[in-house]
Amino acid sequence: MKPTVDVREFGTTKYGETAHLFAIHGAGGVVMEVSDYGGKIVRLFTPDKDGNMKDVVVGFDSPAGWDNGDPYWGCIIGRYGNRIAAGRFSLGGVDYRLPALNNAPGGIGCNLHGGARGWNAYVWKAEPFVRGDDAGVVFTHVSPDGDEGFPGKVEIEVTYTLTKDNVWRVDYKAVPDKDTPINMTQHVYFNFKGESGGTIEDHVMTIAADRYLPTDAGQIPTGELRDVSGTPFDFRAGMRIGEKINAPDPDLEIGKGYDHCWVLNRSEPFKSDSRYEELKFAARLACPLNGRVVEVWTTEPCVQVYTANWASYDQKAKGGEHLSFRCGVALETQHAPDSPNKPEWPTTIVPAGATYRSATEFRFSAERMV
Ligand code: BGC
Repeated sequence: MKPTVDVREFGTTKYGETAHLFAIHGAGGVVMEVSDYGGKIVRLFTPDKDGNMKDVVVGFDSPAGWDNGDPYWGCIIGRYGNRIAAGRFSLGGVDYRLPALNNAPGGIGCNLHGGARGWNAYVWKAEPFVRGDDAGVVFTHVSPDGDEGFPGKVEIEVTYTLTKDNVWRVDYKAVPDKDTPINMTQHVYFNFKGESGGTIEDHVMTIAADRYLPTDAGQIPTGELRDVSGTPFDFRAGMRIGEKINAPDPDLEIGKGYDHCWVLNRSEPFKSDSRYEELKFAARLACPLNGRVVEVWTTEPCVQVYTANWASYDQKAKGGEHLSFRCGVALETQHAPDSPNKPEWPTTIVPAGATYRSATEFRFSAERMV
């Protein structure tokens, strides 16, 4: 099958920008519909064990779905994915104050996913392409100096490529003109039963991590790297997400379920000057009911797993049904939350003129399970 990319209008965002939807038909059969509105994954059809295709991501029919609720479903996240404590950090002797709009009960507030209007909430320039067996879209965006309180203008390029092997690859590139923190991710939520299929607690997840980051009440890592052995965070051998998600564990209580960062085993040493360039296996998600599988491979040292514990249930998703508690799971590859305030951890500061690069592959397949 020759891959193709078609484009159609997707509506107007609350910022008055016109969004588009690109339908990428991969040579291997997977089909993705992605928007230039923050790179949102609106639909993603993958085969089950019998070859039946289903849309397996949670999202909305139009920009209004994102504009009227949690804006992050399926988006590109930046400038800083995840949390920065109190929205504060110092760099080069300057104290920066960012909007600290996100707060878990008991926390002091934090900057989440880039602030009030993160990179997810812009219509990016988009160039569809077909190259041999690959098809995809190159998204570009310019974030001005001082955007959401961050220093430096950043020129960003994110490429989505769908291969003939049903791999969706995300390549991130960003060049700032001043030293600035950059930590990008993709916030797609999977539900292999379809977005109206209820909770993802029956999905089996594997995470290649011996350690995770416990948090304070505001979901900011305490600084400890805790061994997962004997905890509900031990997914090394694969475990149903629901197996221990309601266990009486202080971390699970803070997150209302999984909303934590795992330090991948590939990230040894986990030190301020460590660099990670090779793609390595991070996580796997499989649905025993239909055999759908995704493997996540990344250049990043960590993965934040979020089981949609804070989903807003008065919102209707694409099929017209209300979002439900734990209706999706996001596997967000990234550097650790609050790294700008944790100088001992792998740095997220990109020097002026340097190129930030990151890549993640979502490898889709199906298997017969017992
Ligand atoms: C965070 C959650 C947050 C969600 C918003 C996740 O990456 O870890 O705490 O509620 O994003 O969509």
